[in-house]
Amino acid sequence: QKRILLIIGGGIAAYKSAELIRTIRKAGHAVRCVMTKGGAQFVTPLTLGALSEDKVYTDLFDLKDEAEMGHIQLSRQADLVVVCPATADLLAKMHAGIADDLATTLLLATDKPVLVVPAMNVRMWQHPATRRNVSALRADGIRVIDPDEGEMACGEFGPGRLPEIERIFAEIAHQLAVEHVTMTAQPDFSEPPHRPLYGKRVLVTAGPTHEPIDPVRYIANRSSGRQGFAIAQAAAELGAQVTLVSGPVNLVTPPGVIRIDIESAREMLTEVEKALPADVAIMVAAVADWHVADVPEQKIKKDGNAIPPLTLSENPDILATLAKHKQRPGLLIGFAAETEKIVEHAQAKLAKKGCDWIVANDVSGDVMGGANNAFHIITKNGVESWPDSPKDVIARKLMEKVADVVSKG
Ligand code: CTP
Repeated sequence: QKRILLIIGGGIAAYKSAELIRTIRKAGHAVRCVMTKGGAQFVTPLTLGALSEDKVYTDLFDLKDEAEMGHIQLSRQADLVVVCPATADLLAKMHAGIADDLATTLLLATDKPVLVVPAMNVRMWQHPATRRNVSALRADGIRVIDPDEGEMACGEFGPGRLPEIERIFAEIAHQLAVEHVTMTAQPDFSEPPHRPLYGKRVLVTAGPTHEPIDPVRYIANRSSGRQGFAIAQAAAELGAQVTLVSGPVNLVTPPGVIRIDIESAREMLTEVEKALPADVAIMVAAVADWHVADVPEQKIKKDGNAIPPLTLSENPDILATLAKHKQRPGLLIGFAAETEKIVEHAQAKLAKKGCDWIVANDVSGDVMGGANNAFHIITKNGVESWPDSPKDVIARKLMEKVADVVSKG
């Protein structure tokens, strides 16, 4: 059983939150509702309280609630925060970080994943201000579902309708199932913000690539993307402007990171080149070395006993391409996944690929998909070995080292 904090904004679609609560509860999860002042005009707290079988929260200045449960606690007890419906006003406040009522205060105070389901008049949805707010929230790692298109309560036609409850619930179920990258090393808010990478552009690749065999099959590898995502998150936390080019993974975008999803190695190269220039590039992705030469348009069928041969062609080497690129990043870092003679193989790779550092790790155990990693940092000046640590901790240590080098020019 998971706990969902449902924030209900003030739009006509607020009445549909009743059905959403029933659907979530039918799936066995608990819902706690918070209503904005406007939300409570469209549907009563009494209705939602009866359906959720819990207290409905509306007022930030209800001192009794604050004594019982501070808003910080309320925002963090949930596994997922869902804003449905999200009005244009709520989106704008979320973007600006305004916290002038209970709902917006919770949204600013939460450290949990947030799913936003906007519903509004078509002109409001299409207004440049709303477009800007939605893009900024997405760049902050917040999942914003596009509204449905159709006839609206106000008589106009177009995008802006609340999506069907089943679609919203499918998103909720997905958000509850995926792994959210969280930092164990919390920033120290008593100190001035530590932003040594402020103003620097950092490009990270992560995850596996999928190389199609036919329309339904592909070649892949065991990379989970967790190490690359943790590095992207650490870079963003140190103030960098981060672009993350990711293969297919089951992870949520770290806050503040611009994420571009790709499938194949060739798509990854295209997106990496588009993301240039960068001050630092860290190629963490486990890129497939080969792709199938001629991918048929139709699914390959079993044909008696004949086993179809696969002819493979070599993929472009993204790291080596960047090393020779006219916009070569100032600091270019490759990863090496090795199962034996780790340092020796990584030193050879440093020379072969033309990068500045190779971060080598031993993948003979359960590193791929696991929570921990140990790094050997190989540069032309020697080798530095770091002990086994959680992937987010070692990512932070790596980015601190990067920041050190970059700040020295
Ligand atoms: N890499 C890349 N493009 C490829 C293959 C690898 O950019 N087509 C990058 C990876 O992201 C990683 C580094 O190169 O940063 C090393 O990848 P690895 O697979 O270990 O090296 P390979 O060159 O494929 O060598 P081998 O498979 O023989 O170990």
